[in-house]
Amino acid sequence: MRTQVAIIGAGPAGLLLGQLLHSSGIANVILEQRSGEYVLSRIRAGLIEAGTVDILDRAGVGMRLHREGLVHDGIEISFGSHRHRIDFRKLTGKSVTIYGQTEITRDLMEARAAAGAPTVYEVEGVSLQEIAGDRPRVLYRKDGVTAEIGCDFIAGCDGFHGVSRQTIPEASLRIYERVYPFGWLGILSETPPVSPELIYVSHERGFALCSMRSLSRSRLYLQCGLDDNIENWPDERFWKELKLRLDPEAAAGIVTGPSIEKSIAPLRSFVAEPMRFGRLFLAGDAAHIVPPTGAKGLNLAASDVYYLWQALAQFCETGSTAGLDGYSDRALARVWQAERFSWWMTSLLHLFPERSPFEQRLQRAELDFLARSTAAQIALAENYVGLPY
Ligand code: FAD
Ligand code: PHB
Repeated sequence: MRTQVAIIGAGPAGLLLGQLLHSSGIANVILEQRSGEYVLSRIRAGLIEAGTVDILDRAGVGMRLHREGLVHDGIEISFGSHRHRIDFRKLTGKSVTIYGQTEITRDLMEARAAAGAPTVYEVEGVSLQEIAGDRPRVLYRKDGVTAEIGCDFIAGCDGFHGVSRQTIPEASLRIYERVYPFGWLGILSETPPVSPELIYVSHERGFALCSMRSLSRSRLYLQCGLDDNIENWPDERFWKELKLRLDPEAAAGIVTGPSIEKSIAPLRSFVAEPMRFGRLFLAGDAAHIVPPTGAKGLNLAASDVYYLWQALAQFCETGSTAGLDGYSDRALARVWQAERFSWWMTSLLHLFPERSPFEQRLQRAELDFLARSTAAQIALAENYVGLPY
């Protein structure tokens, strides 16, 4: 088989790139190691920046998002038993949208099927060959049979544990990493949201987040230990702990119910530079990870893909490599802004076991300042709604 762009991974990054390339008449094939159903069953992001909505519109997959997504004009930060609203619309003129990553993925998969663009699911043993030359190839096995795709470019959209970044010689990558001493325990439940907007909670017992997927479905998170296990967290314990971390009014209004999904995610900051080696370009979690506190992971995957699409389209239309040569620097400039913001939100809101009493008081002083200062709120809001492309 031959194609112009071989895309590794059918997560949001790979599927969105495939759709944008298709809209520019650039042939592409997606290889995914899991089944389509498995990819759709992974509950992950839920908060979409306005810029990401624009890109989804450009890709022709924004219709259902505009119909079913919930537009949020602000969030609440809870500490010291009080909630403080950050009004995005007033402070920045922008809003964010609640629309699940699974829904975006479903919309992209359907659009891809309608366009007749090929995706090969359940592939094994993907290996990238001759990425430093002009004629890269991708080898894989499907149903035990080895196959090969010859292409002009490879897009590594295969997430943090994927093969693409690992194919780049170690000496050609610089890795920056921070692992946080806690994780997030998340549940999904068929219950109304705790409050109309997201509540980020900083509490002596640990961080909590009340989010949602719709007006009848809640997505809730608790800071937990790194060695914690979901068996230790029956639903009753989860709801009890959440109430303890919320302010009395929010706690009193909670509607509890059985969880329909429960998982623990570790928190990590990670960047691999540069995001290109020869004809291989990395995008999304394959190149970088942010802790979920700033809701930036999926949104960064979308901005990487937007830059990469522009660069590939420029090359295919004009033969110019300027966009491709500038891709890594352009994407990384935005990545590092999101890394800083996600690290800061995480540091501000979580309980760090190793912090001294002095550092704990500084953390509280920063929260008090945020609650009082319009300047501090604008800095948060500007980053949260998404920096310009
Ligand atoms: P992935 O979604 O990881 O997709 C990569 C794909 O590649 C997968 O389908 C995988 O199966 C496939 N793959 C891997 N290896 C191979 C291989 N060797 N061959 C072929 N295929 C392969 N982000 C936000 O913006 N907002 C949020 O609110 C938010 N909340 C989050 C909450 C949680 C609990 C978590 C865990 C994450 C959250 N994120 C959020 C982050 C977001 O989910 C990720 O950043 C996003 O999924 C990245 O998309 P991606 O396509 O780059 O990678
Ligand atoms: C989510 O709804 O899953 C979500 C929202 C905001 C975050 C992280 C996750 O910061």
